[in-house]
Amino acid sequence: MRVLVMQDVSEAGLSELRGHELVRGSDPAGCDAAVCYLVDRIDEAFLATPGLRALATVSVGLDHIDLDAADRHRIPIAYTPDVLTEATADLTFALLLAAARRLGEAERYLRAGRWTVWSFDLLLGTDVFGKTLAVIGGGRIGRAVARRAEGFSMDVVMVGRDRGELEAALPRADFVVVTVPLSEQTRHLIGTDELALMKQGAILVNSSRGPVVDERALAEALRSGHLGGAGLDVFEREPQVEPLLMECDNAVLVPHIGSATTETREGMARLACRGLAQILRGERPPNLANPQVWDQWAHRWA
Ligand code: DGY
Repeated sequence: MRVLVMQDVSEAGLSELRGHELVRGSDPAGCDAAVCYLVDRIDEAFLATPGLRALATVSVGLDHIDLDAADRHRIPIAYTPDVLTEATADLTFALLLAAARRLGEAERYLRAGRWTVWSFDLLLGTDVFGKTLAVIGGGRIGRAVARRAEGFSMDVVMVGRDRGELEAALPRADFVVVTVPLSEQTRHLIGTDELALMKQGAILVNSSRGPVVDERALAEALRSGHLGGAGLDVFEREPQVEPLLMECDNAVLVPHIGSATTETREGMARLACRGLAQILRGERPPNLANPQVWDQWAHRWA
């Protein structure tokens, strides 16, 4: 079958699609299936392409795909749960540590040649050990972050998206980590009001999706000194970064690299492509994002 490959995918990943004709580009016309990434907008028009029968996304996030349209057009989607959990939790915890210990500032200071003498109060950060961490979102990545925090003897509170839970947890936490997927319900889940509820000097880390946090409100909370710092892997308008955030020295900013290790990216590519190959063979893959489509319409692929 003809499979559209929309971005660079490792050879190991593509080898899972051996036997199919692979075409590069962004136009699904004439293709039976497509492999996309989170930067590809998979909208109604794309999913309605005549002949398109299946999709794989090399991501665990699905907010770039119109899932309702995938249901309507009976397109099963293979995605990449589990395989990136540990790498993303590592990066999330790295951001927490980096923000707490001001690593971004410290490195910029050293590289600028400003380090002339050791001094007692140079770049003082805040302890992580023994502090309270609120993890918003109790999914795989949130739980993996919590496991890491236990190694630092942190007091971990798992928080749902419910207003009451947020209001109870935010004022208690020294660190808040956001791990919820992006949806209409979670857009700006953390905005001016929620930031105001956070403790003076607390640190916010976001490794889920940028629009879950109102970046301008966050920049203001950092600028005013209400928050002590932030660690961000994701941004509202990637790859653009809110200029006000760029001005915040106490924000550690990295370019959406949560799952970016060689092993994990390889695993993601393989898993997504293997799932797609299974669909195209008429087999139900274990990594279906919309299993209801498969269960209802399996006869289409049989
Ligand atoms: C995902 O998979 O959704 C991450 O954001 C990128 O690995």
